[in-house]
Amino acid sequence: MMDRTNFFLFISCSMIHLFISCLASKILNITTDQSALTVFKSQFEHDRSNVLARNWSSDTPICSWIGVTCSSRHQRVAAINVSDMDLSGIIPPELGNLSFLVSLDMIGNKLHGNLPEELAKLKRLKFIGFSLNRFSGKIPSFFEAMPNLQHLLLRSCSFTGSIAPSLSNISKLEGLDLMFNSLEGMIPVEIGNLASLKKLLLSGNWLSGPIPASVFNVSTLEMVDFSYNNLSGSLPANMCRNLPSLKYFSVYANQLYGQIPSTLDECSQLQTLELELNQFNGPVPKQIGNLSMLVYLYLGGNNFKDKKLDKADDVA
Ligand SMILES: *[C@@H]1O[C@H](CO)[C@@H](O)[C@H](O)[C@H]1NC(C)=O
Ligand SMILES: *[C@@H]1O[C@H](CO)[C@@H](O)[C@H](O)[C@H]1NC(C)=O
Ligand SMILES: *[C@@H]1O[C@H](CO)[C@@H](O)[C@H](O)[C@H]1NC(C)=O
Ligand SMILES: *[C@@H]1O[C@H](CO)[C@@H](O)[C@H](O)[C@H]1NC(C)=O
Ligand SMILES: *[C@@H]1O[C@H](CO)[C@@H](O)[C@H](O)[C@H]1NC(C)=O
Ligand SMILES: *[C@@H]1O[C@H](CO)[C@@H](O)[C@H](O)[C@H]1NC(C)=O
Ligand SMILES: *[C@@H]1O[C@H](CO)[C@@H](O)[C@H](O)[C@H]1NC(C)=O
Ligand SMILES: *[C@@H]1O[C@H](CO)[C@@H](O)[C@H](O)[C@H]1NC(C)=O
Repeated sequence: MMDRTNFFLFISCSMIHLFISCLASKILNITTDQSALTVFKSQFEHDRSNVLARNWSSDTPICSWIGVTCSSRHQRVAAINVSDMDLSGIIPPELGNLSFLVSLDMIGNKLHGNLPEELAKLKRLKFIGFSLNRFSGKIPSFFEAMPNLQHLLLRSCSFTGSIAPSLSNISKLEGLDLMFNSLEGMIPVEIGNLASLKKLLLSGNWLSGPIPASVFNVSTLEMVDFSYNNLSGSLPANMCRNLPSLKYFSVYANQLYGQIPSTLDECSQLQTLELELNQFNGPVPKQIGNLSMLVYLYLGGNNFKDKKLDKADDVA
């Protein structure tokens, strides 16, 4: 029978053993980062005209590759910026091993396919730029589990489906750009929970239903673009009450109706106001004249009472 000391020794050893084997299975280092990027590169390495295909050589350290930035403290890849590099192919699951990645900018390439689930492992990510590619499918739900994400840019891909209410779980989100996809359904009320949101860009989709009142409650908002959708309903009378920083507001080309709120001048920082091509009616509020920062004002294509103003605006 084991005596007391041996028993504890046995327990400690088992635990140490468990700890080490557990650690070993999770050890990711700069070599892992390199093999992940090598898998990614294998898709375009035969394209000799491609800058990355030539530069990402296994003979040179990964940290000196174009578009790759390493963290000196952790000796791991911290940022990838391969925007506008004419890359084709998919995002391989191996990219999910870049566990120290903070910024991933792949904007403006010809990448396609679904975004792999493995990206969910990238908990340090603050910036994701996948705009202007050929990705398809639904917007993956794993973005919601990235606690540090501040910028999610998915413009001009071919994403379908609706905007999940749970997207509002990305509590640090400052910029959400879903413009020019094929998203449908309503703007979820939960978007109003994104308490740090500055840019909410949903233009050019098939979104319908009303703009949730909660959106006008996000006091950090600077830029709101809902243009080219199928939104209906009216603007709340006090829409500016909690939007002290709003500079850009566009609902161009939707199905909105009702009166333009006379309190619009409370959005005192407003530089661009686009209400064109809707079914707004009633008078155009004089208070708009008090928006001293206003540079662009588009009101045409509505049913205002004061036709003179409606027309005059077309040249604005
Ligand atoms: C990375 O870890 C593997 C084992 O998991 C090891 O063989 C390799 O030498 C390590 N690379 C560096 C640069 O530490
Ligand atoms: C890749 O580009 C970097 C930065 O311009 C340069 O230092 C490095 O030598 C290049 N590597 C190769 C293999 O071309
Ligand atoms: C990536 O590089 C482009 C071109 O240099 C730059 O405009 C862009 O801001 C960079 N992206 C990030 C996230 O820094
Ligand atoms: C990296 O990711 C791939 C795919 O997700 C996986 O098969 C592989 O084991 C991972 N680990 C390393 C150390 O490459
Ligand atoms: C994510 O959001 C959904 C819907 O808004 C909510 O029910 C869920 O509890 C949230 N999950 C986390 C982890 O916050
Ligand atoms: C706006 O925020 C206030 C304070 O947090 C809250 O009481 C109210 O219900 C919110 N309104 C909407 C429409 O979300
Ligand atoms: C726009 O929304 C209305 C309901 O508000 C719906 O009847 C119509 O089919 C939608 N049109 C398109 C093109 O989605
Ligand atoms: C515009 O602002 C001035 C000065 O704050 C105020 O006296 C005037 O009543 C305002 N006009 C409108 C139409 O709100």
